[in-house]
Amino acid sequence: MNTNFLKACRGEKTSHTPIWIMRQAGRYLPDYHKVRSKMTFLELCKTPERAAEVTLQPVDILGVDAAILFSDILVVLEAMGMKLEFQEKRGPVLPEPIKDRADVERLVVPDPEEKLGYVMETIRILRKELADKVPLIGFCGAPFTLATYMVEGGSSKAFFNTKKMMYSAPELYAEMMNKVTDCTIAYLKAQAAAGAQALQIFDSWAGALAPCDFGEFALPYVKRIIAELKGAGIPLIYFANNGSTLLDQSMTCGADVLGLDWRLKLSDAAKIVGPDISLQGNLDPCALLLPEDKLEKRIARILEEGKSARGHIFNLGHGILPETPPEKAKFVVETVHRLSGQS
Ligand code: CP3
Repeated sequence: MNTNFLKACRGEKTSHTPIWIMRQAGRYLPDYHKVRSKMTFLELCKTPERAAEVTLQPVDILGVDAAILFSDILVVLEAMGMKLEFQEKRGPVLPEPIKDRADVERLVVPDPEEKLGYVMETIRILRKELADKVPLIGFCGAPFTLATYMVEGGSSKAFFNTKKMMYSAPELYAEMMNKVTDCTIAYLKAQAAAGAQALQIFDSWAGALAPCDFGEFALPYVKRIIAELKGAGIPLIYFANNGSTLLDQSMTCGADVLGLDWRLKLSDAAKIVGPDISLQGNLDPCALLLPEDKLEKRIARILEEGKSARGHIFNLGHGILPETPPEKAKFVVETVHRLSGQS
């Protein structure tokens, strides 16, 4: 198996800097559209053979060093009893958002094998089909990021209702967060038991929080998840998008790896997090639209900056954009391998 990704997570020596790309299975790939055109996004998530097929596409097409399970962070909310839709133009919609105590009390903490069995089945198929070619990453949303969808009913810019609940009904907020956290712990343990070889926690909207609010309303739940998952013995990655100003706090979460967006230099981040944490990132997804010579310079710079970290996994600073030409994604993978390889 190509173990460079797992080695970099642990801070061990690698033969080249490993790379995978957030949202690497998705809409920028014509091969994804071919499968997706036959069913809705949620149906695709719930059809293990097809979900496994689209997971493998970027491994075969781009040559990345890790596969990430094809699913979505929001499927757990459906398993907890919320209605979930993905609308073509609007993205995720939760038509009955959480408003009051009765709504929180109605949320269930499900047995993941029973309610999310299709995810574990996808993982089991993938481990067979990958045949130890590259490791498989499982994932979840961080409780705060999930809470924004639960309370806002979909994507949001200001997160007004979520913050209103935090500030005006902190006990209710904590109750909701504890349920989401319990559910996430069981879900990640099930993913690990099914064969996931690393786990990433996506905190896409953590950057919307003031440092004091992050410390009180988001980070403690992430810490609890990581503490509970340590026993699984696989690398744990925490990605707080737009989280540079939170790094001094997020470095205490217990993760083996911190994911970084493009707003901070990796070498500056390495100075903050020190020698016990690996870093993942952090090319601006828009940089894939640069001409190849300029793109290569940026990749070289990030690889250089990454040398100051305990271990470096190359990635984008957020998900790859649907507008990206697949050849450019392939160019990034090949360039990372060529520039960082020892041979
Ligand atoms: O990375 C991968 O290749 C694995 C698959 C994956 C998806 N979503 C597939 C997807 C992963 C890891 C996610 C995580 C996810 N989902 C996050 C965290 C990462 C991030 O980008 O911050 C978030 C916030 C979501 C919620 C979500 N799902 C949104 C906001 C949307 C609509 C907007 C968008 O980016 O597409 C989705 C839908 C979604 N999730 C698609 C895919 C491939 C597009 C669905 C389609 O085919 O129409």
